[in-house]
This record gives sequence, C-alpha cells and structure tokens, in this order.
Amino acid sequence: MSYDLSGKRILISAGGAGIGRLMAETMADAGAKVYVCDIDDAALADLAKARPTIGQIQADVADRAAVDRFIDTGFEFLGGVDVLVNNAGIAGPTGAVEDIDPADFERTLQINVMGHFLCTRRVVPLLKANGGGAIVNLSSAAGKFAFPLRTPYSASKWGVVGFTKSLAAELGPHNIRVNAILPGAVEGERIDRVIAAKAAARGVPFDEMKQMYTGLASMNRLIPPSDIVAMAMFLASDDCGTLSGQALSVDGDTQYLR
Ligand SMILES: NC(=O)c1ccc[n+]([C@@H]2O[C@H](COP(=O)([O-])OP(=O)(O)OC[C@H]3O[C@@H](n4cnc5c(N)ncnc54)[C@H](O)[C@@H]3O)[C@@H](O)[C@H]2O)c1
Repeated sequence: MSYDLSGKRILISAGGAGIGRLMAETMADAGAKVYVCDIDDAALADLAKARPTIGQIQADVADRAAVDRFIDTGFEFLGGVDVLVNNAGIAGPTGAVEDIDPADFERTLQINVMGHFLCTRRVVPLLKANGGGAIVNLSSAAGKFAFPLRTPYSASKWGVVGFTKSLAAELGPHNIRVNAILPGAVEGERIDRVIAAKAAARGVPFDEMKQMYTGLASMNRLIPPSDIVAMAMFLASDDCGTLSGQALSVDGDTQYLR
C-alpha cells in the first residue's frame, strides 16, 4: 500500500489479531510507529514474536483502568500520538431479541461503544495539544442496515456512527478528523464464526449461509481485510485532507443484511 505514514504515531485497539493486526503491521511497514492493545495474551505474544518493533499491552477496552494504562504507556512508547484507531469490537450474541441474555447485550455495548469512548476521551486532549490528528472508528455495514438476529451488534455499530459524527463536529475546530469505516462481511476466521452462528439460529447449512453472506454485496464476494486496512491508512494519512465526519462503507456495495 502506498500511503506514506512516516513519522505517524498510531494507537490501535485490538491489534493482536484480525483486521487490527493487519492494520498494525501494514501501517508499521508504511513508516508509522505503532502501539496496540489486545485482550488476548496469546495473540499479543504471537505479534511480539513476528513484529518486535510494534509496541503492545494487554488491555480490555471495556475496562477503564486498563484503557488508561494503554493510553499512558502508548503515549510514552510512541513519544506522542497522531492517530487513534478504535478497532476493538465483538460480534455479540446471535438470536431472537427475547432470547438474548441482557448481560450479553451489555457486554457488546461495553466493548463496541464504551471501548471507543474510553480510548477517545483519553486521546483527544493529546491530539488537541498536538495541534490536530485523526480518529478512525470501526463500525460495520450493521451500522447502516437492519441486521435481524444481531440486535446488540447492530445497535452498537449504529452507535459508533452517531459517536463518530458528533465527535467530528466537536473536534473539527481543533483540526482533528474523525471518520468511521463500515466494513461488509470480511474474509477471515471471524466471519466463519458469525456465519456458523447465523446458520444455527436459522436452521440452515453453513455452506448455504456462507453463499448468502457472499451475495449480500453486489460485487458478490467477501471483503479482503486489506481493503479495510487501505481505508484506515488513507484516513490516518495527510492525504485525507479535510475528510471528516463520514461513515465510509468498504463493503463491495452491500445492498442489505439478513
Ligand atoms: N470481520 C468482519 O467481517 C467485520 C465486519 C464488519 C465490521 N468489523 C469490525 O472490525 C473490527 C475488527 O474486527 P475483526 O474481524 O478483526 O475482529 P476479531 O474478532 O478477529 O478480533 C480481533 C481482536 O480483537 C480482540 N478483542 C476482542 N475483545 C477485546 C476487548 N474487549 N479489548 C481488546 N481487544 C479485544 C481479540 O482478542 C482479537 O485479537 C471490529 O470492530 C468489528 O466489529 C468486522
């Protein structure tokens, strides 16, 4: 990828695996200094082995004290902050609304919405002191369309869009850009878990459900994670100029969710 991130100091939540890991590695390759948190020790150990120059700490983004440690140690490691990527987000439970455990609904909101807030509230003063910067929030196509049997996830991802737009308006005068990325169904381990859960809830075979997911996009394919990373890199880069307050779909022209 050709975006030049030389000298950028970037914090990424949930950078131990999945999209966040690819983002951390690709941004580092583009010249950025990167610091990540993740809840999963094994994922972090794997990252440390593969990419020792990427800084890291174990932290749950829903835990206020842990987030404080993430931001404090990240600031020290990076020598400042230019970009925050709020990437952490769980799929949450799949099922009819009356069958969803309130604790599972709450945990989904805690990670997917509160986690963004907890990181952002600590980074904003640093960006203001810096004279500007960028915040990139991971929402989802589920933050744009109805998503039956996934109400906690959908509510959380629509929440991320509202948070993004309000924050952009609040921070524009401080030269801080805030945007959300709305990925469609991204290739990888997670989407297979999501598809399996939906297939079970609907009582249909996995392969049929996978085909249905692929067909959600008019481009008739799952989205490569590198597409999401490319968008995040653009949003983190100076090429992004004045682009702010946007909910940007990277979803192969997804038409609806089911
Ligand atoms: N994969 C998709 O199809 C897809 C689609 C739309 C949106 N998204 C969004 O993109 C983001 C990244 O998704 P992904 O597919 O890479 O996820 P993933 O499920 O692969 O998880 C990535 C990492 O998040 C970490 N994590 C989970 N809970 C955490 C917590 N509380 N605190 C810190 N780290 C935590 C995990 O340990 C893992 O290393 C999420 O916000 C997700 O909702 C993903």
